[in-house]
Amino acid sequence: MASLLSIEGVSKDFQVRGRRILALDSVTLAVEKGEFVTVVGPSGCGKSTLLNLIVGLLRPSAGCIRFRDRTINGINPEIGYVTQKDNLLPWRSLLANVEVALEIRGVEPKERKRRAGDLIHQVGLGGFEDHYPHELSGGMRQRANIIRTLIYDPQLILMDEPFGPLDAQTRIVLQDQLLRLWTAARKTIVFITHDLVEAIALADRVVLMSSRPGKVKCIATVPIPRPRDVYQVHQHHAFGATYERLWKELRPEVDLVETWKGGAPA
Ligand SMILES: Nc1ncnc2c1ncn2[C@@H]1O[C@H](COP(=O)(O)OP(=O)(O)OP(=O)(O)O)[C@@H](O)[C@H]1O
Ligand SMILES: [Mg+2]
Repeated sequence: MASLLSIEGVSKDFQVRGRRILALDSVTLAVEKGEFVTVVGPSGCGKSTLLNLIVGLLRPSAGCIRFRDRTINGINPEIGYVTQKDNLLPWRSLLANVEVALEIRGVEPKERKRRAGDLIHQVGLGGFEDHYPHELSGGMRQRANIIRTLIYDPQLILMDEPFGPLDAQTRIVLQDQLLRLWTAARKTIVFITHDLVEAIALADRVVLMSSRPGKVKCIATVPIPRPRDVYQVHQHHAFGATYERLWKELRPEVDLVETWKGGAPA
């Protein structure tokens, strides 16, 4: 059977003031239904570009991306996108922000309130329904950002460093909640992170990308059983070996980025 998402030899270049920037080079990756895949790679290696291509905001310069056996051609409402920066509407309450996708789809008010209320409670935001985004903490806003995507039940959810700006404790709480939501809803997730520990803790498979132009350098299956306890997962005997293996591959890529910063542009 075909994979849910299939990225086939995808390259992407940008023309910037007469200069060609090759962001992605021949990326091939298949993601199966129900999988949790994390993508790790140095800054600027094309991770966000890859998500923008999958969701149909950009078109590949070469290769193709297939979702449910159809080539991606423009924005696909079956694919949810949780961006790094929350896009909550400042003039709407938490509840009204979480409901917005259902409102657009014409779901009746009672039903959308019920579904939004359920999700708000599942992520521990009960009681804050009538708060506006500026009255919520960064972690609370990021939870709202995730559930406003989950609410319309997309088949595939793309997440671009959703916990990046949060402190270590809040990250772990949110990782735990995300794994619970994923287990309950059985969605397929492609999750980008800079953090190798987070990548291993969450994933079925970790995709490691090289520095720009981004290529898939290696893919590691995480042999840690589920359900996982994110608070303890690093103590599992397989965690250390997976971390060592991936860090050995990631380290030279991160070093390369540091060289570029001080040297001539590539
Ligand atoms: N719209 C664009 N126009 C021109 N160049 C772009 C555009 N988007 C991305 N790039 C370039 O493509 C490369 C990859 O960018 P991208 O944002 O995908 O990296 P990233 O891996 O997400 O980095 P980070 O981890 O810092 O978020 C960079 O060199 C960037 O300058
Ligand atoms: Mg990015």
